[in-house]
Amino acid sequence: MKVLIVGGGGREHALAWKISLSPRVKKIFCGPGNAGIAQLAECVDIQDSNIPAIINLVRREKIDLTVVGPEVPLVAGLVDALEKEGYPVFGPRQRAAEIEGSKVMAKEIMHRYGIPTARYAVFDNAQQAKDYIKQLAGPCVVKADGLAAGKGVIVAEDEQTALAAVNDIMENQIFGVAGRRVVVEELLRGEEVSMLAFTDGEHVVPMLAAQDHKQVYDNDLGPNTGGMGAYAPAPVLTPELRQQVLENIMIPAVRGMAAEDRPYRGVLYAGLMMTDKGPQVLEFNARFGDPETQPLLMMLQSDLVDVMEALLAGELSKVDLRWYDGASVCVVLASGGYPGTYGKGEVINGLADLPENVVAFHAGTTLKNGQVVTAGGRVLGITARAGGIPEAIELAYQGVTRVKFSGMHYRKDIGKKAGNR
Ligand code: AMP
Ligand code: GLY
Repeated sequence: MKVLIVGGGGREHALAWKISLSPRVKKIFCGPGNAGIAQLAECVDIQDSNIPAIINLVRREKIDLTVVGPEVPLVAGLVDALEKEGYPVFGPRQRAAEIEGSKVMAKEIMHRYGIPTARYAVFDNAQQAKDYIKQLAGPCVVKADGLAAGKGVIVAEDEQTALAAVNDIMENQIFGVAGRRVVVEELLRGEEVSMLAFTDGEHVVPMLAAQDHKQVYDNDLGPNTGGMGAYAPAPVLTPELRQQVLENIMIPAVRGMAAEDRPYRGVLYAGLMMTDKGPQVLEFNARFGDPETQPLLMMLQSDLVDVMEALLAGELSKVDLRWYDGASVCVVLASGGYPGTYGKGEVINGLADLPENVVAFHAGTTLKNGQVVTAGGRVLGITARAGGIPEAIELAYQGVTRVKFSGMHYRKDIGKKAGNR
């Protein structure tokens, strides 16, 4: 069969890598892809939210399955558009993807179906939001309602920061229409963990727990990024807590979405805070996480195409996900300056020189005059699988030392929190 992957980051490289291991797959296309994906797939120069161009490609190449990576095309209705033409596609429809596309909608679902989350209020008026923040007179979190490329959340330890966030989002409109409404919520404390699950709208099959590292510097210091590394399984989610998250969060969310005429099909991602009152939801995403997908798919033993097809057929109950023993760790190599402004076009060396069981998933890379060069903030995810977390950390960093480009920086403590358990 022929598979099209929509997107061009580390997550999509991991998807292409895993899908390429399926004996059923004859050819992979990717739009737009990157230099790493180009080794496994035919990359087509189309943007991930150019719906007409994607439909044309699917028609022209007779694609049997399209897999949508990023949130923007999901929220724009790419899945609906392909389904309307009769093409099989993996990912939630627009109304379901809104669980990520509107934080207000996500909070309402959680509120209505008793899913544990931070207390919150919604505002479409800046002055009222500010009055509320002043009344709180303490830490809070301000969130733009719509998609903001992962930058729409401001964790405010003090009133001044929260008021400035409302100014930026609602008055200066730094995220455009995404900031027409804001959610102001209670600041939760604890350790974060991500639970991703496959769902066909009825059955929910969770993946291993994964942990992202959002801040740019070691020990969770500095500004937030798209994610500087991840590992799985994350021991913070003990088997008991995992069951609790499944029963109190994932299943009620899927049931709630179905009850609201938003049947959810695809991967549902819950960003969780492990508080002293138990796991609470920080956010839902309508897709695989990036970089969590890199270690998760390296740990997945089952054929991903089989899982996706069973899900689309509504037969997820027959799927028994199999995982490799041990653990996987992904260390992100970023461009100098990221998450602020950064340059592009730096030549990357050492990619052919990685140890066994280490894969360099490409994120922001491209080919220039036959050389792989940097083309984004997050450039590579050096991902290793080994017998346990300490071994996988060791192996991933061995891989990291082989790779070089000018300005490269990365965190030295990916996976370290797992050792606290
Ligand atoms: P979100 O996009 O909602 O996951 O927010 C991005 C990041 O902001 C999360 O991964 C957390 O680190 C942080 N965050 C979001 N909501 C809260 C909250 N209520 N309390 C503390 N941190 C939060
Ligand atoms: N790693 C966080 C995300 O994919 O949203």
